[in-house]
Amino acid sequence: MGLRSRSAVSGQSTSYRHYWCGVSLGNSPPGASFRASPAGLRRGSHRRSARFCGRRRISPRQRGPCAAVFSWGQTFSPPRGVQRSMSSQDEQNLFTNTAPWYDMDTAYYSESDLAFYLEAADRAGGPVLELACGTGRVSIPLAEAGHEVWALDLSASMLTELARKAAALSPEVRNRLHVVQGSMSSFQIPQQFPLIIIPFRSFQALTDDHDTSGCLESVRRHLASGGVFILDVFKVDHKETIATTEVEHTDWERRDPRTGQTVRRARRMPAVDSEKQIIYPEVILYTTNQDGSVSRHVDTLALRYYYEYQLQILLATHGFKVDAAYGSYDKRPVASGTEFLFVCSHSVGVPALG
Ligand SMILES: C[S@@+](CC[C@H](N)C(=O)[O-])C[C@H]1O[C@@H](n2cnc3c(N)ncnc32)[C@H](O)[C@@H]1O
Repeated sequence: MGLRSRSAVSGQSTSYRHYWCGVSLGNSPPGASFRASPAGLRRGSHRRSARFCGRRRISPRQRGPCAAVFSWGQTFSPPRGVQRSMSSQDEQNLFTNTAPWYDMDTAYYSESDLAFYLEAADRAGGPVLELACGTGRVSIPLAEAGHEVWALDLSASMLTELARKAAALSPEVRNRLHVVQGSMSSFQIPQQFPLIIIPFRSFQALTDDHDTSGCLESVRRHLASGGVFILDVFKVDHKETIATTEVEHTDWERRDPRTGQTVRRARRMPAVDSEKQIIYPEVILYTTNQDGSVSRHVDTLALRYYYEYQLQILLATHGFKVDAAYGSYDKRPVASGTEFLFVCSHSVGVPALG
């Protein structure tokens, strides 16, 4: 199956443009990735993060127990029981280089989806499990609203940002937040949940059938009887053109309130695989250092896209019934929205946890 890509056509209607807009991630502090001088790019302290990744023995593709519960104050380490080294493909989607700017980039998104998840949590009651929680953009407000939250993510960089933010929370709120480092493609948490959510298209980071099945099987085992599973995937339909490459262009430029640095967010789409339905967008952050030099931080994502019928079949074959399908967080119909926002429940018996 070959790679088919076409040049972007300006003004084209492409709903995938909304994917994780504004992501930037990083284990390293600003300036630790690639340094760009006026003379061009040269490798800077990037080797530091490369060594860090080299020590890791985690893979989203690895099956089996993978959840390591985090205690506040502890640094994130590879989950136990995972033997295979991380490949460059496994590192995709973990925002390793751009995590410090993720919240700056996604603040606008919280204005639309947070109220939806808060309402769902109020309705469901009991603990919430957020898969691919990232920096806690959703999990922290849920905990602040009084909910017990289990937040799982594979990325040490993103969880480090979450921990930094959690340090500013009251002990009462922080104690409601249980952070788990592991892959959503296969996880074991010793309880079931009345609400499991995968916000902001994170499920699309699982690009092969093995991982998507593993994730849905794990969700099913952890969903309590009568529980609700909410899945958010960006919308494409047959009428729209997807799978176009894009040259680099700027999304925004802002001052980072934490560091005072000027941050410019750009992106490009170097490749699209329309056979496998995977897009490979790049998140690019430029930060201006005190000496005027510019650091460039890049993460390559790999996101699988779905047509609505494919998602419906996937959910049905994994024992889920779609009780409501929305096109966005204001509950508009799918036809007029940018999302496939599916509210699901068990369609058959609840499997035993274990
Ligand atoms: C777009 S961010 C969403 C973060 C958060 N849910 C939000 O709404 O802001 C996607 C997240 O998926 C995480 N991720 C990617 N692959 C993963 C995997 N296999 N298991 C767990 N988390 C994963 C990344 O580390 C990242 O934090």
